Amino acid sequence: MRLGVCYYPEHWPESRWAEDAQQMAGLGLSLIRIGEFAWSRFEPEPGQYDWAWFDRAIDMLAAAGLKVILGTPTATPPKWLVDRDPDMFAVDAQGQVRGFGSRRHYCFSSETYRAECRRIVTAMGERYGEHPAVAMWQTDNEYGCHDTIESYSGNARRAFRRWLARRYGDVAALNAAWGTVFWSQEYRSFDEVDPPLGTVTEPNPSHVVDFQRFSSDQVRSFNDEQVEILRRLSPGREITHNFMGGFTAFDHHAMGSDIDVATWDSYPLGFLDISPFSDAEKQRYLRQGHPDFQAFHHDLYRGCSRKWGVMEQQPGPVNWAPNNPAPLDGMVRLWSLEALAHGADLVSWFRWRQCPFAQEQMHAGLLRVDAEPAPAFAEAAEVARDVTLISDETTRQAPVALVWSYDGQWIHQAQPQGQGLDLLRQAFETYTVLRRLGLDVDIVSPQSDLSGYALVVLPGLPHVEHALLDQLKSCSGQVLMLCRSGSKTQSFQLPANLAPGPLQDLMALKITRVESLRAGIKERVDLDGQAHGVQRWREAAETASPVRACYADGAPFWIQESRFSYLAGWPEDELLGRVLADLCREAGITIMPVHEDVRLRSLGGLRFAFNYGPEPVSLQGTAPEGAEYVLGASELAPAGVAAWRI
Ligand code: GAL
Repeated sequence: MRLGVCYYPEHWPESRWAEDAQQMAGLGLSLIRIGEFAWSRFEPEPGQYDWAWFDRAIDMLAAAGLKVILGTPTATPPKWLVDRDPDMFAVDAQGQVRGFGSRRHYCFSSETYRAECRRIVTAMGERYGEHPAVAMWQTDNEYGCHDTIESYSGNARRAFRRWLARRYGDVAALNAAWGTVFWSQEYRSFDEVDPPLGTVTEPNPSHVVDFQRFSSDQVRSFNDEQVEILRRLSPGREITHNFMGGFTAFDHHAMGSDIDVATWDSYPLGFLDISPFSDAEKQRYLRQGHPDFQAFHHDLYRGCSRKWGVMEQQPGPVNWAPNNPAPLDGMVRLWSLEALAHGADLVSWFRWRQCPFAQEQMHAGLLRVDAEPAPAFAEAAEVARDVTLISDETTRQAPVALVWSYDGQWIHQAQPQGQGLDLLRQAFETYTVLRRLGLDVDIVSPQSDLSGYALVVLPGLPHVEHALLDQLKSCSGQVLMLCRSGSKTQSFQLPANLAPGPLQDLMALKITRVESLRAGIKERVDLDGQAHGVQRWREAAETASPVRACYADGAPFWIQESRFSYLAGWPEDELLGRVLADLCREAGITIMPVHEDVRLRSLGGLRFAFNYGPEPVSLQGTAPEGAEYVLGASELAPAGVAAWRI
């Protein structure tokens, strides 16, 4: 368990660096991320590198016993570079060039920009690859931040055509896969295909999904070019990229397999403000963040790479959400410990010291602008002490696997068929219900080994590959498939045998009609004599398998054939909780329903509890009588953390 911070020596006078380094070391930090936006200082003139200042910054940190994570600076190409090659800019969906003046002003498909990136990364690798203080590399910064995955530039258009030609070989295959005979969209060659932009009404959804797949592949190959250079020039060092929250525009499973550490940037209060949570939740968790948002991403990114961590942890108010409250006292510690309890290898705060100038001057750091400690400083120090008490513990496989697919999310987004519906929402809501039952959850890719899970949940994966189907057949756990599972083919068509497509191998079931319902409409479902609700989505199911719960009109809702269950509608949390609790019982998993503000998590021989609520909560009934507490006690204050030996 390593602690770190993001540091920008180029923002401060050199006379301050030594003090910063000593203070970081004194705080118990060991990994300092630097460099990721410093291209204009590394190469002030084309081809003329100035490494001397950066050498001194690294040496200063190393002298204090710190190691560094070197960021490649490719998220911020300097002015001279973009002026020389304005063709490297991305173009947005409105056809506007996304120009210089902030960051991420490049198109992943620009070959000239890629060559420049290879050049600067090679130069950095040659200079610092074997430096003893360099522990890790971070490629670029937050691919996709500011909505930058898709580009509609000429470079992107040409690259998309080449990608399509590789995928389909023959344009007739593309026409068949997309169904372009519909509305006379047939293409005579790949050179006639443009990105799906500027259409009068909805573009062909297969076209949209393929453009998303192409865009994702472009990010991956852009990243791979850097990874290949760094592996060669910096042997033995780990490579990471910092992913984001609530962000699905490229395949993080794929990129995670190319790197060593999947890190992500956790800003609980900013995310709460910009995400579609209810007003009541936004008020209740104003200074804490949503109790499941962080954990969901910890569990998601743990499933993306060999190791994972938090590269940027919110330390105080941020600058970028519409409203930017301060965390409740204790939350910076809670968020950090929660990440560690979910198995993080690294937690690093963003940023060391609040910067008095430019775009992020209103963003808090561990230090204030005047270099005095900000409130997060003391909490970081506390985390450094806490870590010594828990660091021997390692994460174990959870009893429950939630299968998540980026490709599935793109399919749902391309044609939601109901306002605000997508796979991420289905997965997140399912995750929340599982966590309210006190369960640990692994969020896994459709390619994962599912053996060893007592319960596997498919939160509506639209396309099910044979490998996943085989895993479902051969694993021994209960399998719950939520509505819309198996509802599309790979090329975005309705399965010829109807939904749930290949999942019909598991049970005698055909979904013959679906309907989406406006917010507030509730369909009644009776389970064990109690009335519950389905909202947003209802399916008509034809089945010869046993039906365990029905709609009020007698139509099947919960269909179960041995260990396979299917829900023909989008259950309210309470109903889903009942179904999951029953399945857990059948799977031999112990549940521990928790207070709405409390979340539990096991790490090795410890069980943690986190209080996201504004009031104190007692752990009586949750922790055993006489539990041996390593952190906290059975009264959990707001923002409180407790951990006891299992
Ligand atoms: C992240 C980004 C950082 C910084 C931070 C502010 O998205 O990686 O560079 O901008 O947000 O919260």
